Amino acid sequence: MNEQSHLSSSRLTEQVGFSTELQQQLRLNDDQVWIEVIQRMDSIYADLVHYQVELEEKNTALEDAQSFIQSVITSMSEILIVCDINGHIQQVNQALIESIGKTAEQLKGKDLSVLFCDRYLPQIAEFPEHIRSGTLIDCEVELINDQQQPVPMAINCSARLDHDYRLSGLVITGRPLGELRKAYAELQRTHEELKTAQLQLIQSEKMASLGRLVAGVAHELNNPISFLYANMHALRGYQQKFKLYMDALHGGSSAAECKKLREQLRIDAMMDDIEPLVEGSMEGAERVSEIVKNLRKFSTPQQSEKQPMDLIAVINRASSWILKSASARLEVINDCPAQLIIINNEGHVHQILINLLQNAIDAMQQTEHPRLQIRVEQDNTFAHIHIRDNGHGIKTQDLVKLFDPFFTTKPVGSGTGLGLYISFGLATEQCHGNLRAQNNSDGGSEFIFSLPLELKP
Ligand SMILES: Nc1ncnc2c1ncn2[C@@H]1O[C@H](COP(=O)(O)OP(=O)(O)O)[C@@H](O)[C@H]1O
Ligand SMILES: [Mg+2]
Repeated sequence: MNEQSHLSSSRLTEQVGFSTELQQQLRLNDDQVWIEVIQRMDSIYADLVHYQVELEEKNTALEDAQSFIQSVITSMSEILIVCDINGHIQQVNQALIESIGKTAEQLKGKDLSVLFCDRYLPQIAEFPEHIRSGTLIDCEVELINDQQQPVPMAINCSARLDHDYRLSGLVITGRPLGELRKAYAELQRTHEELKTAQLQLIQSEKMASLGRLVAGVAHELNNPISFLYANMHALRGYQQKFKLYMDALHGGSSAAECKKLREQLRIDAMMDDIEPLVEGSMEGAERVSEIVKNLRKFSTPQQSEKQPMDLIAVINRASSWILKSASARLEVINDCPAQLIIINNEGHVHQILINLLQNAIDAMQQTEHPRLQIRVEQDNTFAHIHIRDNGHGIKTQDLVKLFDPFFTTKPVGSGTGLGLYISFGLATEQCHGNLRAQNNSDGGSEFIFSLPLELKP
């Protein structure tokens, strides 16, 4: 074809009557053009081959990405529904197919509403509108399966954007509610078990400290009981004398004899004495019953009832129990107001105080002049109870571990390491207060137990 066109162009120049020189020049130009054309074609061909290779590489990458996405979608345990902006189903995953028993082909192109029970349709119809306004939808609905049975699901609907970040549809993911409910029930059960275990722990710690308290409590009981005993002894003596006097009165003795006997037996003085004796005995009996009541309050598991209570009375009771059980004599500085009414759980407060005081006494066992200071301060919202001792103090590295369960520096058998752990839990969670510890600059340590003055219902 080249030869042909070359011939035809020379013939044309001959016909037109160009000079031989001109004709030669033209033929030379002609060759140049043909060379350029061929070179251009070569480069285009090379480009084509290059594009082809690039295209094939991109195609392979695309196929890889597609099969990766497909495998992820198929292995998802959550259901997946992809729709266009008009709510037509474009893609669903295996989890959805298995949940409702319909095939992907049956669903593709259908309206989203075919998946849901009728009563959820108004809600579903609002999805595109919500999505356009940028809200993520999170709700519980019921899908409908091929047996026309509801399948409860917790679903999540979010916007699908195209590569220009324009809204192009909806993506719904969901998890069968049965499964969620099961997981929730399991969680609930574990929580209950944990609560029971915790309650048992509190109880056993309480029993352990109760054992150590017995001496104090026995001492407390001893006072009113010996008082009662003495009163009863006196009353028994009076009773015998009264009997003698009555026998004389009704046994025919003369008035003068009766009068003499009355003076001898000091009947009038006894009569005056009976009332205070009975009153004193009543008071003693009440004291015993009060101690037993307190003991029972402390030893039985606590209900979380919160009532007005006199904080100072509880502090005094706890310290009297503890101090009576302490082996060594110690100086006690009580810096508390006469009364401070707060609303809280008295049993919990008492238990925490017992733990703190017992620890303070333990820490002062090797102290030459043990001194315990109990101080109560108050601000607008809290009462702060400071329990300060001059014992061995707390090692700096132990300060952070004090409230850990089973942390103890006491020998095996005398420390459980649970006192502060339980006290901290009770103080913060049950009493809505706080418990802190610090070392004193002049030796020993101080625990600060804060309690709200009032509890919001
Ligand atoms: N007042 C205190 N002074 C010094 N150390 C203390 C004091 N109170 C507690 N501790 C330290 O905290 C540890 C943990 O206390 P606790 O939880 O009551 O358990 P336990 O008394 O059974 O050891 C104690 O072993 C002790 O080392
Ligand atoms: Mg302790």
